[in-house]
Amino acid sequence: MSPEEPAGGAEPERRPRAVHRPVLIDEVVEWLAPREGSILVDGTSGAGGHTAALARRVGAAGRVVGFDRDREMLELARAAVAGLPVDLVHAPYSAMRRRLAGLGIEAGAVDGVLLDLGLSSDQLAWRHRGFSFGADGPLDMRFDADSEGPTAAELLAESSAEDLAKAFFEFGEERFSRRIARRIVETRDAEPLTTTGQLAELVRRCIPGKLRHGPIDPATRVFQALRILVNDELEHLDAILAELPEILAPGGRAAIISFHSLEDRRVKWAFRNDPRWAVLTKKPVTATAEETAVNPRARSAKLRVAERWSNQEAIPTPTSPRP
Ligand SMILES: C[S@@+](CC[C@H](N)C(=O)[O-])C[C@H]1O[C@@H](n2cnc3c(N)ncnc32)[C@H](O)[C@@H]1O
Repeated sequence: MSPEEPAGGAEPERRPRAVHRPVLIDEVVEWLAPREGSILVDGTSGAGGHTAALARRVGAAGRVVGFDRDREMLELARAAVAGLPVDLVHAPYSAMRRRLAGLGIEAGAVDGVLLDLGLSSDQLAWRHRGFSFGADGPLDMRFDADSEGPTAAELLAESSAEDLAKAFFEFGEERFSRRIARRIVETRDAEPLTTTGQLAELVRRCIPGKLRHGPIDPATRVFQALRILVNDELEHLDAILAELPEILAPGGRAAIISFHSLEDRRVKWAFRNDPRWAVLTKKPVTATAEETAVNPRARSAKLRVAERWSNQEAIPTPTSPRP
């Protein structure tokens, strides 16, 4: 994805106001088609924008469960869903099935699941979380700051050049992955990498001059790759894609928004290859020009929707939201 840096050049404070705009929100509501009494799950509640929009439609008889790995994001979500029928859960979405059972929602009882993958603009703006190459902060990058998992700084200090190069190439499609990894390993004993500013500068110095000054900061791809690595993002996605058909009721829908091809490809193939899905969006749904004009982050968003196949019904017509 191309992260949206905080606008205006002003230094972000530790906890600036929520800046995240939910992407494709009308399309998500249209495709998930919540009804009075629906049970829905938002696997990535973030600041709660989608969660609240869905909860407003399920009425008092319905229920929305919102998951997030990030406690600070759940605080924002809590404010956004006040007064609505929402339970918020601090857990990865890959734990959805077990955690729903703990709330009395059995597998096969859910009418719709949303995943809006990746990073929130709020997390990016919070320099203490270490996601942004535009604002200097500690090189952390864990979605779950309570977890014991290694931080980005720890991974950079301990990994071999081969492993780092592989991650930069596979998760960031970084052309100069080997050169950057080698430079990290050569310099880290004398100068441990502990801040986002240090890493961004090191990466920029590895990129040849004429490529260094393009529209996208040369550090973008390495930062994306490290974030994916630190948070095992693709493992969590694979785990939930395997479980979703069991979590959903027959006729229930999964709507997944991804921001880069590594995620989108996985979603596309999981929907196509599992006979329990009927794919509703032949091509991914993308944002309108109006939306991208006010929310540049929406430019790379791709929404795919599939319906849990039910033997009792005919396969729904592709590309039609529920009537
Ligand atoms: C793009 S934001 C979601 C924004 C949200 N839809 C809204 O309207 O504000 C993605 C969120 O997913 C969370 N997240 C990332 N990986 C996760 C995982 N495996 N399980 C649960 N939450 C995750 C991040 O902490 C972040 O808050």
